[in-house]
Amino acid sequence: MRLLIFLTLIVTFFWKSLGTNACQSDLLFLIDSSGSVHEKWTLQLESVSNIISKLDLLNEKISVIVYASKMKQRTKIRFDNKLKTEDLQKMIKELPFFSGITATGAALRFAKKELENRRKHLKTNVVFVTDGFSYDNVTEPAKELHSLSDLRLFAISVNEPNNQEDLEILAGTPERVLKGTKASDRLVEMIRNECQPKMSDQLSTKEPTVSPLKSCKKSQQIDGY
Ligand SMILES: *[C@@H]1O[C@H](CO)[C@@H](O)[C@H](O)[C@H]1NC(C)=O
Repeated sequence: MRLLIFLTLIVTFFWKSLGTNACQSDLLFLIDSSGSVHEKWTLQLESVSNIISKLDLLNEKISVIVYASKMKQRTKIRFDNKLKTEDLQKMIKELPFFSGITATGAALRFAKKELENRRKHLKTNVVFVTDGFSYDNVTEPAKELHSLSDLRLFAISVNEPNNQEDLEILAGTPERVLKGTKASDRLVEMIRNECQPKMSDQLSTKEPTVSPLKSCKKSQQIDGY
């Protein structure tokens, strides 16, 4: 009898963790720290902070790169960090403002290397926080980055003015270019929606269905969100 209970617990545990893994994803932030975003630097950091606080940190691994000119890219937080939320938030607040010119293209190539440390069986959300103005050309480096598997790219701009054209090149599509003070909330929504049943599923039944989630790669359950 005891053995049975024990086994049930074990199975339940693994089933649960399988479920929460279903829509697990990692997060890489690339934060523009060049002169043109100076006035909105704090606002940029608050957006990042907001995203981290609203997503389930137990499920996300987070990395943060801060960049400005061609020689100035720093990985300030690595994917393998074991930071608690409070410490992570403190580090975000204290990220350095570099100033100087912007080389987003160079930062993309730098990020591609950092992404080798991502968990490859999961989705990785890459979030550019920038006004989109860059002195180097982002087209080719963006193409190289987009060629990696299982990435979902977003570009957030809290700045005015911004360079819509390059923001779209970074995100790969205008739908994932998010602007203004609500941008971070919308991003959280979009990441979560990837793990929700589709509207049509919700309409057909009163209860949320535990149906296969088409948008999720290894989906089993709606657990965790
Ligand atoms: C960047 O390079 C691409 C080709 O790789 C070119 O089509 C585009 O016009 C360039 N952009 C700028 C702003 O020079």
